[in-house]
Amino acid sequence: MERLIITEDGSHSLFSPLFNQQYHSLQGALTESLHIYIQLGLLPLIEDQNEISIFEMGFGSGLNALLAWKTADERGCRISYTSVEAYPVSADEAALLNYDALVGKPGLLLLHQCPWNVRNELSAQFNFSKVLARLQDLEITDSYDLIFYDAFDPRAQPELWTEEIFAKIAAHTKPGGVLVTYSSKGIVKRALAAAGFRVERHRGPGRKVHVLKAIKL
Ligand SMILES: C[S@@+](CC[C@H](N)C(=O)[O-])C[C@H]1O[C@@H](n2cnc3c(N)ncnc32)[C@H](O)[C@@H]1O
Repeated sequence: MERLIITEDGSHSLFSPLFNQQYHSLQGALTESLHIYIQLGLLPLIEDQNEISIFEMGFGSGLNALLAWKTADERGCRISYTSVEAYPVSADEAALLNYDALVGKPGLLLLHQCPWNVRNELSAQFNFSKVLARLQDLEITDSYDLIFYDAFDPRAQPELWTEEIFAKIAAHTKPGGVLVTYSSKGIVKRALAAAGFRVERHRGPGRKVHVLKAIKL
């Protein structure tokens, strides 16, 4: 498949010709997702809470959702996961990704085959819904404990890293809730702060110096 990339840790990623961007860090898709979304975002929250609601910007390959599902089943916490995606990966493409084997959790294809806009009980611990929409057009109805903010780079999609878009997200993040993202650019930090988050810089995966964790005030 033309779009398939093998990253430095051996895990696959995809390339988007539409945005001229890859879906993950070339230094390691799995390493990046585990470091930012699971270790920095999810694991500290499940120390204190048994039930977590997650909103993901950009379902894409489904890697973050698969990792969250595995975490829920292994740790015995209950996760309700909602992901928005405007340009879905086909199930045929998803079937080529090597995540089930590397993550140690079969289920990537099932995530891709779930119908859109419906809540799917995938295990006793994990329910999952993906919404086919642009984030800008989406009317968010619930409030979330944790946001996986995984849009393409601010240079490719500046409209998704504005104060306005983060204010929309902040309005649906619970007080004390957390947003994690790979971009630590100045414009992202300033937009998050202006939207009502306290922004922390954390060490990134591999050679990436910083990533962001933002706490809703
Ligand atoms: C950096 S990729 C990451 C995706 C995913 N989290 C993963 O691990 O593969 C960004 C994703 O956002 C999606 N996307 C781009 N613009 C969007 C928009 N306006 N609204 C919703 N999704 C969008 C892309 O199609 C892509 O799947």
